[in-house]
Amino acid sequence: MPDVALHQSNRSVPISDHATELTNDGLNHRSICPMGFMRPSLKRSNEQPDPPFSDVLRERTMRLHAKAERSGILADILRRNCDRGGYALLLRNLLPAYERLEAELSARAAHPVLGIFAHRALCRSDRLRADLRNIQGADWERSLPVLESSTAYVAGITRAAVGNGLRLVSHAYVRYFGDLSGGQVIKKILGKSLSLPSDVLTVYEFPEVDVAALKVKMRDALDRAERFTDDPHMLVIEAMSAFEYNISVSRDVQDVLARSPRLRHAEA
Ligand code: HEM
Repeated sequence: MPDVALHQSNRSVPISDHATELTNDGLNHRSICPMGFMRPSLKRSNEQPDPPFSDVLRERTMRLHAKAERSGILADILRRNCDRGGYALLLRNLLPAYERLEAELSARAAHPVLGIFAHRALCRSDRLRADLRNIQGADWERSLPVLESSTAYVAGITRAAVGNGLRLVSHAYVRYFGDLSGGQVIKKILGKSLSLPSDVLTVYEFPEVDVAALKVKMRDALDRAERFTDDPHMLVIEAMSAFEYNISVSRDVQDVLARSPRLRHAEA
C-alpha cells in the first residue's frame, strides 16, 4: 500500500496549506519538466471562487510528480542510464495496471465523467504488448517477471473501482495525462539514448485523435468529477496513491535490475 499519509475530508481545506507544506519540506521542487505545470501555488480567499478541480489535482500531486521523476528506473531513463531490458521490465510491470484500469473504465463508458477516459484512443494495453514483443521478443511474458509493486498497483485500481467507481478518474488522470505529457519527453529520450525506433515506442503515440482537444475534454471531466461525490478530497487522495504506486513500480524495477543482471541488455 503506498504511503499516503494525508487525509482531509473535503475541499474546504485551503489549497495554500498544502503549498506551505510543499515549500517547507526541505525538498528541491525544481522539476525536470519545463513545466507551466510547476506554476506558483493556487491562492484562495473568501471572495475568490474555487479553482477548477483539475487545478486542485495538479497542485496536490505536484510534489509526488517531482518525486516520480526522481525515483527508480524513471530517474535512470532521464539520466540516459537505462537499457532496453530495464525499459522492457518497466513496461511489463505497468501493463497489468493499464489492463485493469482499461477494463474498469470500459465497463463505465456511459458514465458522464469516467466515459471520456474510456476513449478507445487512450487505451494503452495493446500498444504496450506490441512494444514489449518488439523490444523483448515473443516470449516477453515468460522472460519478464511481474513484481509485487505491479500487483499492488492492480489491487489499488481494483479497490478504486468499488462502489460508484468514481475514484478510477484519479488513476486515469495520473496515467493518461502522464502519457500525454511526460510520456512525450520519455519517448524522445528513449529514442535517442537507446536508439529505439518509433515502432517500439508506440505506447506514447495517440494517432487516432486530436490530442489537444482530448486533453480539454479530459480536464473538463476532471473539473466535473467533484460534483459526483460529497467527498472530492478522496479523489485527490486516490491520485496521490496512484503516483505512489507508480513510484513503487519504478523503484522495484530498478532494484530488481540491480540484483538480476540477466534482465538487462535485452537483445536489439
Ligand atoms: C519521468 C519523467 C517525467 C517527465 C519528464 C514528465 C513531464 C511532464 C510535463 C512536461 C508535464 C506538463 C505537460 C503540460 O503542461 O501539458 C507533465 C504533466 C503530468 N505528468 Fe509528468 N512527467 C514525468 C513523469 C510522470 C509520471 C511517472 C507520472 C505518473 C505516472 C506523471 C504524471 C503526470 C500528470 C498527471 C501530469 C498532468 C499534470 C496536470 O497538468 O494536471 N508524469 N509531466
